[in-house]
Amino acid sequence: MPGAKRRLTRKEKITQSAAIVDSAKKATDLLSFLPEWTTYKKHDLDLKVEYKSAPDLSSEDTKTIFDLLKINMESFYNKSDWGWEDNFKLEELTHKDARFLIVRDSTDKIVGFSHFRFDMESNYPILYCYELQIENAIQRKGIGKHLMSILTLIAYKFKLVKILLTVFKDNTAGLNFYRNSLHFGRDESCPYDEEGKCYLILRKSVDKTEISNLKC
Ligand SMILES: CC(C)(COP(=O)(O)OP(=O)(O)OC[C@H]1O[C@@H](n2cnc3c(N)ncnc32)[C@H](O)[C@@H]1OP(=O)(O)O)[C@@H](O)C(=O)NCCC(=O)NCCS
Repeated sequence: MPGAKRRLTRKEKITQSAAIVDSAKKATDLLSFLPEWTTYKKHDLDLKVEYKSAPDLSSEDTKTIFDLLKINMESFYNKSDWGWEDNFKLEELTHKDARFLIVRDSTDKIVGFSHFRFDMESNYPILYCYELQIENAIQRKGIGKHLMSILTLIAYKFKLVKILLTVFKDNTAGLNFYRNSLHFGRDESCPYDEEGKCYLILRKSVDKTEISNLKC
């Protein structure tokens, strides 16, 4: 049919998805197209958001990020069948594919971060949010939502089709945040309840409607 677009074969789709992930991984400044999202001045907060890849993180920043993660999450891990291991988490945070949104207060102290990666899942290009950690003193002031909005905008810009994340079933606050406030749903890769796993895998599709609802 003249002018009709040929459907891509499975192999072509995989190649296309891999190229999308590759181009996202190669980007050096993921926030340069989102300048208005790099400051957060609401609810008496005066915060800055910066982007860093793991190889660019100073050892001091890596330690602060690790400490915040440990303070917020160690008890959840220890209650689960995963357990907490410092070295395992440090390896995850310093992996060459790890990307970070880092939140600093007006004294430059790190008060929150998101660790995310660009990856393939079932042959689709996706953004996996490994961590979202906000210091206790500034929780419930909108910065978690702000960081998730930035991740959504990054995913859209690079044509990644969805955001995925893992959350412990007993993390009530986390589940409320993702499911009720941000409207994440179960991903098809999420284990069935009958399997008795300690976690859920949640997803959100990234599309134009989603983007148009985001406000800074
Ligand atoms: C969960 C977390 C990331 C949310 O970030 P945050 O900046 O505190 O949350 P926000 O202010 O953006 O919350 C947006 C909405 O999510 C929901 N929400 C957030 N925290 C909640 C909580 N503790 N209990 C119930 N609902 C919550 C609310 O609907 C909230 O809106 P509201 O405050 O106007 O009612 C943050 O509290 C955190 O770092 N917690 C510890 C680590 C963690 O559990 N991380 C996520 C799982 S890996």
